[in-house]
Amino acid sequence: MTLLAAHDVSVTYRRRGGQPVAALEGVSLGIDPGEFVVAVGASGCGKTTLLKLLAGFLEPDQGAVTLAGKALAGPGRERGVVFQDDALFPWLSVRRNVEFGPRLAGLSAAERQASCGRMLALVGLAEFAEHKIWELSGGMRQRVGLARALANEPAILLMDEPLGALDALTREKMQELLIEVWARTRQSVFLITHSVEEAVFLASRIVVLSPRPGRITAEFPCRFATRLLAGESSRAIKSDPAFIALREQVLAAVLRGATA
Ligand SMILES: Nc1ncnc2c1ncn2[C@@H]1O[C@H](COP(=O)(O)OP(=O)(O)O)[C@@H](O)[C@H]1O
Ligand SMILES: [Mg+2]
Repeated sequence: MTLLAAHDVSVTYRRRGGQPVAALEGVSLGIDPGEFVVAVGASGCGKTTLLKLLAGFLEPDQGAVTLAGKALAGPGRERGVVFQDDALFPWLSVRRNVEFGPRLAGLSAAERQASCGRMLALVGLAEFAEHKIWELSGGMRQRVGLARALANEPAILLMDEPLGALDALTREKMQELLIEVWARTRQSVFLITHSVEEAVFLASRIVVLSPRPGRITAEFPCRFATRLLAGESSRAIKSDPAFIALREQVLAAVLRGATA
């Protein structure tokens, strides 16, 4: 059964004194358990709006969003959200940040500690539990953000340009980590990026959005992540002619929308 779905959703932002902006129009998207769906598109095409709908931060003007077939009622623990800006508590330790959700959920100290340990191991930060957030690099902070989202054991991770602020080397390492976490947790993922190469590398399915009004204009199945899991290097995969061909196809779809 489809896990999380938007059914023919439309969102128009109306600002006083300004023209209304049709951020999304008639968008339908279903995410199945275990899928890694990546949305790409030019800036302003409604990607963040779509993620906010799926997260339950925003309600559509038309259409509906469902989780396991039921209408969504606001944000919930079964959807873990990660933004580009890591939104961590800088004065707290890594551990306190990761335990934040489980603490709110009323888990015991022992349960919290066990889950925090598992999540930090998963993102490669086991030795950094007692460090303060301000002591960490940007890439490490994003890993804490990921561990914090995973600590709630969500059914799906929703990520808005999570790697957008990282340098190229760190970014590639984080892409590899996301694929490994996806495979190990069998998590469903919905991720937004404006990097077409990143989309082709990570996704099991790519959806292309086009602006004004924001619509899904193309979809591509994808399976390069499985090659990373089978032991091939990122560099080898990204320079493979099959990878480059799909990357160009997706890029063409993005550009078609952006200039239409
Ligand atoms: N709160 C808001 N009020 C008015 N317009 C908005 C608001 N949020 C987004 N928009 C507009 O809606 C469109 C889609 O925005 P967004 O979903 O953030 O796109 P993306 O994430 O793809 O860059 C853009 O034209 C943006 O300027
Ligand atoms: Mg955005």
